[in-house]
Amino acid sequence: MKLILDTANLSDIRYFNDYYPIDGVTTNPTILSREGGDIVAHLHEIRKIIGPKKELHIQVTETEYEKILEEAKAIVKAFGTKETVCVKIPANDVGLRATKTLASEGYRITVTAVLSAGQALLAANAGAAYVAPYVSRLENIGADGVGTVAEIQEIFDASGTDTKILAASFKTAREVLDVALTGAGAATVSADVMKRLLAHTTTDTSIAGFAADWEKAFGKKTLGSML
Ligand code: E4P
Repeated sequence: MKLILDTANLSDIRYFNDYYPIDGVTTNPTILSREGGDIVAHLHEIRKIIGPKKELHIQVTETEYEKILEEAKAIVKAFGTKETVCVKIPANDVGLRATKTLASEGYRITVTAVLSAGQALLAANAGAAYVAPYVSRLENIGADGVGTVAEIQEIFDASGTDTKILAASFKTAREVLDVALTGAGAATVSADVMKRLLAHTTTDTSIAGFAADWEKAFGKKTLGSML
């Protein structure tokens, strides 16, 4: 399962892009609103940090069909190519119409704010590259977020569609692991949840133990310096 970073914070993107195996960055209008300032320059900086090949998901802000098409094309032109920029379009009727048109012209669309398997089925049939089901927003309203992702994956497997799941809206590392078990193609994860996937106190004490035992036996010399 691909892991994408769900933030527009530049220092987080720099850190995770250097240290973690991330496949790209997702943003949405709320995430971008937290950064403020010259948001176009900010998005260019994100592209510079992750390089030309990784996926950058940017959501449209227009709500009318023709304007969504225009904005989507401008987004792709500004921040990469049809292959590397996924345009996020919300899962409503206008969004579906725009997805059908843009997908037929070779644009990669991430249909976002998906809260049901029905929406995911329609998005896939419209030609979306990804559908983004919101796991914790479903859990928050008493629905089964991971179960919805599993149902969507089953429908996609049964139909043989090329559309992939990009599961989104995670609050816990457990949710990410449960989604990985469904066979979903990708998940987009906040900096906090990404860190929680790696952190383990027993790993830290193990590393400290290795260092202490080595030093007791061989002093400050490293193995490399002895070779
Ligand atoms: C992807 O970019 C989604 O918009 C995002 O994961 C939503 O997350 P939230 O429910 O934490 O706002």
